[in-house]
Amino acid sequence: TPSAPRITVFGTGYLGATHAVAMAELGFDVVGVDVDQSKVDALAAGKVPFFEPGLPELLEKNLATGRLRFTTDAASAVAGADVHFVCVGTPQQRTSHAANLAYVEDATRVIAQHLTTDAVIVGKSTVPVGTAARLRGLVAATAPAGLDVELVWNPEFLREGKAVGDTLHPDRIVLGGASPQAEAVLRTVYAAPIAEGSPVVLTDLPTAELVKVSANAFLATKISFINAIAGVCEAAGADVTVLADALGHDVRIGRQFLDAGLGFGGGCLPKDIRALMHRANELGAYRASALLQQVDEINMGQRERVVDLALEACGGSVLNKRVGVLGAAFKPLTDDVRDSPALNVAAALHLRGAQVTVFDPEAGDTARRAFPTLGYGTSVDEAVEECDVLLVLTEWDQFVGADPQRLAGLARHARVIDARGKLPAAEWRAAGWEFTGLGRLTA
Ligand code: UDX
Repeated sequence: TPSAPRITVFGTGYLGATHAVAMAELGFDVVGVDVDQSKVDALAAGKVPFFEPGLPELLEKNLATGRLRFTTDAASAVAGADVHFVCVGTPQQRTSHAANLAYVEDATRVIAQHLTTDAVIVGKSTVPVGTAARLRGLVAATAPAGLDVELVWNPEFLREGKAVGDTLHPDRIVLGGASPQAEAVLRTVYAAPIAEGSPVVLTDLPTAELVKVSANAFLATKISFINAIAGVCEAAGADVTVLADALGHDVRIGRQFLDAGLGFGGGCLPKDIRALMHRANELGAYRASALLQQVDEINMGQRERVVDLALEACGGSVLNKRVGVLGAAFKPLTDDVRDSPALNVAAALHLRGAQVTVFDPEAGDTARRAFPTLGYGTSVDEAVEECDVLLVLTEWDQFVGADPQRLAGLARHARVIDARGKLPAAEWRAAGWEFTGLGRLTA
């Protein structure tokens, strides 16, 4: 393979679109491939079909260089390239916690079928351990005879909202099952981040697959740990935010992912821990499965806890009460509402008869599509106006920095539940708000 590999990226969702743009930014010729014509059209026209800071600018810049294209024509894309990244989704199945591998298999088969030169197929999607080995069989059975085709696993750890930085400056580059030749090709692809200090971890296929899901499982466990401790804090009259800061000073623990509150959501953590639970059970590793089951239960329990607090705040029933909800995205800096704790809570209160008004600075449209029956506002004020209780469910800066004094004048009852632990409690209380924070009820 020559020194400047030509690249395809299959799948143009959060992962694939960002990866394609980043590879072009690193100077390679890149074709992004998707079966969804509307996504391809949008990206080709310089429009990112989701909110991701920094990505639109980088997309536009790299389209202009001519290095970056998008197409639904897999055959021609594959024929012109030597490195093929598989970045398609692995959603949770409807009937079980197992991952749906149909898209990964389809993409791999399509790539293998259309190969005209030696190639490296690089799996980036999050898959259950053992998948890559099976895909190798698929590639061997599908690729034209006589070509040297390798399948390597190179999991991706990008966070939404920080996808561009995470892709260009990864914490580590894990390469599973790479021959010396494939390793050399990928070291060329990742030369820039490697030069900047991203460590390369060389390993086998199953380890590479497991690094990804273990990382997410650990992050999820950290969040559920602090949420479990938040319950103890509430019962004991302690303050979990101070506790988390104090824990975080221990470098072995670290402060990150110790924010107690409504818990984790999004397209990755919930589905990945469930898929790992399912896979661990299949493999007879029951302890891992039992641990993750607890992590999941604690996490889902936080949503119920916030619903209960809202009911309590309204005297036991929210029927015909006005509930203001600040936040719809599963976290700030994204418009993603997949498995969003915020929308789950809003919907649960709506089901109990509340008149819910949701406001989110970026996720209003995606939220409306996912939960069309909820009420939506176009500003913080609209959510707060005449509310009987206000819930802060996603910690956008503009909510954390809102003026409690002014908002107190808009509410019918100045009662707030800070489900993300980021509001300045003392200021809100001083402004007359009855303030409830998870894990710091008495603070
Ligand atoms: C995650 C992983 O971080 C990333 O490495 C992986 O590639 C994909 O999954 P992402 O889904 O973008 O990324 O979200 P992340 O920033 O990890 O947050 C996940 C959820 O945890 C959010 O709902 C967030 O609100 C919640 N969270 C995070 C907490 O409740 N407390 C915390 O302390 C941190």
